[in-house]
Amino acid sequence: MKRGLAQITKETGTPIYLYDSLIIQSKCRELSKNLPGMNLYYACKANTNPEIIKIIYKEGFGIETVSPGEIRIAKKADVPVSKIIFTCSNISEQELTSVIKQGIKVHLDSLQQVLVVGKNFPGTEISVRLNQGIGAGHHSHVITGGPDSKFGIDISQIKDLKKIAQKYNLKITGLHQHIGSNVLDALILSKAMKKLLTTALLFPELKYLDFGGGFGIAYNKADKNLDVKKFGIEVKKIISDFSKKLGRKLEISFEPGRYPVAEAGSLLVEVTDIKKNPSKKFIGVNSGFNHLIRPAIYDSYHEIENVSNPKGKKEKVTIAGNVCESGDVFAKNRLIAKVKIGDILVIKNTGAYGYAMSSEYNSRPRPKELLLTGNKIKQI
Ligand code: LLP
Repeated sequence: MKRGLAQITKETGTPIYLYDSLIIQSKCRELSKNLPGMNLYYACKANTNPEIIKIIYKEGFGIETVSPGEIRIAKKADVPVSKIIFTCSNISEQELTSVIKQGIKVHLDSLQQVLVVGKNFPGTEISVRLNQGIGAGHHSHVITGGPDSKFGIDISQIKDLKKIAQKYNLKITGLHQHIGSNVLDALILSKAMKKLLTTALLFPELKYLDFGGGFGIAYNKADKNLDVKKFGIEVKKIISDFSKKLGRKLEISFEPGRYPVAEAGSLLVEVTDIKKNPSKKFIGVNSGFNHLIRPAIYDSYHEIENVSNPKGKKEKVTIAGNVCESGDVFAKNRLIAKVKIGDILVIKNTGAYGYAMSSEYNSRPRPKELLLTGNKIKQI
């Protein structure tokens, strides 16, 4: 980036989400390069801005959606329905049948949904999401496998699943799983993959397998991104061994949401207040958990820097927003270069689940979203 972030905010104002399109492209290319011959679907819940979806679609990704709204956005971004897939949780019969009628591939989440499809579309091919008891992720709220997860059909119910499928002449041609979000250890993902491949042997009509997302990024300097290269090598071996065993090849898919976009995004905010009590120094900014809720609901760590005084002496502060709740804190007791009113702080790695989870709580508008390409900035 040629212009500094503080300079950019002089032109754009704050608060803003700023995304770097070149980072999104390079993350997509890293995934495509290491998972060749496999379908990659971007889980657009991470960032539904149509311009972001367009960039990722142009990189050869399909789009994974979870609501009619996300389907509408993907279509608005010119993604054809053949490249859209849908994962459903607790949706109505009307919603489910309307998605299927559009020709979108659906991963069914419950026996009830299989029943609905059986009744409305007997004799068709279906894909089901399984819960195989393996879950992982950065916080209990995002672990989607195991006994506490609302997602998927438990593998103990495969017999019931097959009974319903048989009754309505449904062919189970796809299996899906997603174990959770921000998994940093490739071994956990490959262990879950192997388990699904063992289960897959129980479904003779299978054509494709979807292993979900979960590819983690390092929010904290002490961590490391999921090693996509190592994971890719492992995946190729696992799939090739499986194909040999099965005597044929299945279509393989993944659904990364966070990985392509998280590191491409920053939330830029301005310091509006500074106050001290006997034990703490608070830095107040013109944003809050209405713009970035991850620290409040998952206790997530996001690196924060003072871009107006990057070389300043570090001091320990608590960085809080302008929402009327005590939980509106971006960072507690964080070391950051000395801050004065009007300084610009960058909250890093906020391209995923930042704007997408924002709200207008306290009747404050959402921030603008801006896309940086080389040296050019446009509002998106
Ligand atoms: N596929 C399915 C079916 C999913 O439910 C998700 C995420 C993904 C793919 C993409 O997962 P990813 O690659 O992004 O880990 N708001 C939370 C994350 C929630 C993820 C929900 N499902 C956060 O800010 O950490």
